[in-house]
Amino acid sequence: MKFNQPIVDTFKDLKRVAKSYPGRLIDVLDCFNQNQYDSKTWLVDCLNQYPYHFKMKTNDSVKIAILAGWYGLMAKLVSENFTLKPIGEIHSYDFDPFVKNIGKLLFPEITFVEQDITELDLDNKGYSIVINTSCEHIDQSLLYKSIDTAPANTLFVLQSNNMSYVQQHINCVDSLQMFEKQYESRLDKVRAYELHKEKYTRYMLIGVKR
Ligand SMILES: C[S@@+](CC[C@H](N)C(=O)[O-])C[C@H]1O[C@@H](n2cnc3c(N)ncnc32)[C@H](O)[C@@H]1O
Repeated sequence: MKFNQPIVDTFKDLKRVAKSYPGRLIDVLDCFNQNQYDSKTWLVDCLNQYPYHFKMKTNDSVKIAILAGWYGLMAKLVSENFTLKPIGEIHSYDFDPFVKNIGKLLFPEITFVEQDITELDLDNKGYSIVINTSCEHIDQSLLYKSIDTAPANTLFVLQSNNMSYVQQHINCVDSLQMFEKQYESRLDKVRAYELHKEKYTRYMLIGVKR
């Protein structure tokens, strides 16, 4: 490993997390592990190649919502690597108050919103893209609600996985076909993807709300 200034800065940030939120240090480190990084860079790469939607839109910039966004890795990677349009605003929603405090400490440029997505009505918020990489943590009726309250033509990017042995995973899927089936009546122009990792498979759908 080449030791350089960004690594010094990262250790400085982690020390601040360890001092102010010691009980969260392991969770923070989990959020930035190799699998999390791979699955989110994969998402941005696929989103940049998604062939529909932006051809139809005339907006100069897009507003993006990340649902259940944890400490902001997804928001950070999208804001730095999304290439199809300039990003006007990006909001990372999570109901955990520690997430907002720690996320702001790590990524001050990201807007963190402390909110339960159960209470989030996406209508009239102006998001062109809604990303949720936490589907395995969220009840299916709530995932449907997030789509149903959004305007037609909103682009949804959803990820889930088959790690049903993890206690917090209340809504895993066993296959890509099962994941696609859950959204076939709600999303159009769907592209479905899977990423095989050593111990599990991650599934992803990109589609336009009907
Ligand atoms: C373990 S993390 C994310 C895991 C996911 N695989 C990923 O990489 O993004 C799950 C996050 O979902 C958040 N979350 C779960 N239910 C939520 C809800 N109803 N509203 C807002 N955030 C929620 C939790 O607070 C947590 O930060």
